[in-house]
Amino acid sequence: MNLISIFDLSHAEIEAIIEKAEELKKERREGVRARNDLEGKTLALIFEKPSTRTRLSFEVAMRELGGDVISLNWHELQLGRGEGIRETAKVFSAYVDAVMIRAYLHSTIEEFAKYASTPVINGLSDLEHPCQTLADLMTIKEHKKKLAGVKVAWVGDGNNVCNSLIGGAAMTGMDICVVCPKGYEPAKVIVEKAKEMGCEVVIRNNAEEVAADADVLYTDVWVSMGEEEEREKRKRDLKNYQLSENLVQVAKEDVIIMHCMPVHIGEEITEHVMNSANSVIFEQAENRLHAQKALLLKLLKY
Ligand code: CP
Ligand code: NVA
Repeated sequence: MNLISIFDLSHAEIEAIIEKAEELKKERREGVRARNDLEGKTLALIFEKPSTRTRLSFEVAMRELGGDVISLNWHELQLGRGEGIRETAKVFSAYVDAVMIRAYLHSTIEEFAKYASTPVINGLSDLEHPCQTLADLMTIKEHKKKLAGVKVAWVGDGNNVCNSLIGGAAMTGMDICVVCPKGYEPAKVIVEKAKEMGCEVVIRNNAEEVAADADVLYTDVWVSMGEEEEREKRKRDLKNYQLSENLVQVAKEDVIIMHCMPVHIGEEITEHVMNSANSVIFEQAENRLHAQKALLLKLLKY
């Protein structure tokens, strides 16, 4: 089984991953870090773009589960000199038990998975970031004690992280509203899939109207990796879509503030909001570790 899109998982599978992640988090808080579930298994990580959280969380997860991990940069592999994805996938399959790829194009990961005989995990593409969504759902459930019926407002660029969160919302019964300027809407293919599952993705332009009703306010960078050339235009277009003190003021008292990180302070979020009592951003980052451990156990053990 692969995790290339959040839609690759069923509702029941997502629930089971979150439950296992909660158990692993509790156990780790009690001091248990070393397990031997994945002894003898190796995970390869391939990065075509930079990463802090995804790299760290997968590396620590594999080590703490008793397995091994190899982290590789795309451009240090023959892939960077033009070796085919198909050939690379076949070679990796002979050496390791699973491969995580962070790539520019979603189709790169799909093609790798087509030729690999091991599980393939999407560690972020231009279309989706499903591993982030697993940690996000876990974080929301921890704070709101449920997922179904929780109202999530995404403020900013309807990007890869937003797309997978929409899928996660569709799967778990959350309401999701995306507040973005024209031209920055989430991918149509994702919105359609969510709709087929009975989740109507509401798209709005005015953040204050939406924030007042939200249980979760979520944002991400205005300029994603690979979009650097559009930086100035994006900053102009998205300048009114910031998680600021003014916006949080109109929200519910117990609203939680989320961001997948890395943050660009002063752009999509202010420093004050990022560090406010409502912010769960650093816990959300920690939850990447627990959620991915649960995912790896699902893909490699059970
Ligand atoms: N949220 C996330 O995926 O962070 P990195 O880009 O640092 O991996
Ligand atoms: N949307 C961001 C997420 C980084 C984790 C990007 O793709 O760069």
